Amino acid sequence: MSHLLPEAVQSMIPVFIQISYLVAMALFIIGIKRLSSPATARRGNQLAATGMLIGLVVTLFDRQIISFELIIAGLIIGGTIGAVAARTVAMTSMPQMVAIYNGFGGGASALVAWGEFARAGDGVVTWAGQDLTTAGLGILIGSLTFTGSFVAYGKLQGIVSGRPITFPLQNYFNLLITLAILVLIGLFVIDPLNSHLFWLIFGLSLFLGLLTVLPIGGADMPVVISLLNSYSGIAASMAGFVINNNLLIISGALVGAAGLILTNIMCQAMDRTLGNVLFGAFGGGDETQAAEETTDKSLRKTFAEDVAIQCAYAKKVVIVPGYGLAVAQAQHTLKEVADSLEERGVTIKYGIHPVAGRMPGHMNVLLAEADVPYDQLLDMEEINPEFKTTDVVLIIGANDVVNPAAKSNPGSPIYGMPILNVDEAKQTIFFKRSLSPGFSGIDNELFYAETNQMFFGDAKESLQKLARAIKELED
Ligand code: TAP
Repeated sequence: MSHLLPEAVQSMIPVFIQISYLVAMALFIIGIKRLSSPATARRGNQLAATGMLIGLVVTLFDRQIISFELIIAGLIIGGTIGAVAARTVAMTSMPQMVAIYNGFGGGASALVAWGEFARAGDGVVTWAGQDLTTAGLGILIGSLTFTGSFVAYGKLQGIVSGRPITFPLQNYFNLLITLAILVLIGLFVIDPLNSHLFWLIFGLSLFLGLLTVLPIGGADMPVVISLLNSYSGIAASMAGFVINNNLLIISGALVGAAGLILTNIMCQAMDRTLGNVLFGAFGGGDETQAAEETTDKSLRKTFAEDVAIQCAYAKKVVIVPGYGLAVAQAQHTLKEVADSLEERGVTIKYGIHPVAGRMPGHMNVLLAEADVPYDQLLDMEEINPEFKTTDVVLIIGANDVVNPAAKSNPGSPIYGMPILNVDEAKQTIFFKRSLSPGFSGIDNELFYAETNQMFFGDAKESLQKLARAIKELED
């Protein structure tokens, strides 16, 4: 495209490109900063997207070898798919969508290395040793991210079993394959035009992605997705080194670092190490057994009218949302209930556990969608001291994040995970359909506590009944 421009303008193009890249990078960084608060997150996302658009458009002038028609076609096709997906995908399926995006990110980076390999074969470019190492590592991480992300997608979507799929000595086998790939990359540096080596690295890396994620339980997929997100960033950064593109290097590094920080936050919130998540084959326990083990214990069932009276005459009600709220899409009805209680002078707060739901920030996004004021959303550290003075806690489709076994049962797999101390409140009420355990597959003793009641049913239907019952109290 640049050859169509006058010579004087053409000589300025490299400067223009680098300045534009700088602007795009600044937009990425400011965008990420703004994502840290729900109040500014939307704007942050728009800024980062603008940075991405600048990056794409400027690339039209940068890579003279690539036909700009192809880039524009990619922009239109990719943009359309992205826009349609973002509008139509249900909130509960967001983690799957992120998994697919990560996979494509990793795959795209591996394809960049493939493209450069083809160009080297045609004599269009010559590779220096460090480029080859980076390309080899980029293919390894990008391909691994591609297949690993699709396994993660399959596990979340229920296409692949959520149970850890393992075979004896699997970790050693995976280590062996990793070492083999590294040796092949070494050989590739010596013999860069050897297509057998190239395809072997590619194939083994794709295979390694499958083997790495299959043994991880479905419950840990959000952590895996975050880690793969980080990998996709690293792969993009490596692709940036291969094609000498500063924007790709820096944006890839940003994604790599952000994904790693998020992975770390999630592991800390579950009090587990990354090693335990990746190699511990956690989750997928016998859920039916967990539920059956306790059927002889006594429960206190409750109904909308009773919950309405308890809440309407309470001073402070804390709402603890969980995955079930998202499944039932009950956030708007919940807001209706909270509004009518507030009108009666009840103080309402929401306690948000860092891993409530199935992805970071899941609950915040859901509640923001229902216009719940941000200042009512309290993090675990902020809400925990408040439970002692709380009259009623409504636990809506949440389970693991309030399970006291994390504090009291050293034998429990979730022992040590910080939880919301709802058991310190005067009364807790679970809104769920059955006694089924949460994602970790662990039974919850709190169901049977004297200060607990169970309001069985779909969260949305139960909240609708509650909203009606509160209204009837008013009449
Ligand atoms: P969970 O412990 O998974 O419990 C969700 C509960 O929702 C289930 O017990 C289920 O019980 C109920 N439910 C499902 N559909 C419902 C509906 N339509 N109406 C009412 N209730 C419904 O959820 P949580 O407390 O949010 O905990 C999150 C879990 O995900 C934790 O184990 C956490 O470690 C894991 N995890 C999360 C993340 C992130 S970043 N969020 C990352 C890694 C792991 P019924 O079937 O009886 O209704």
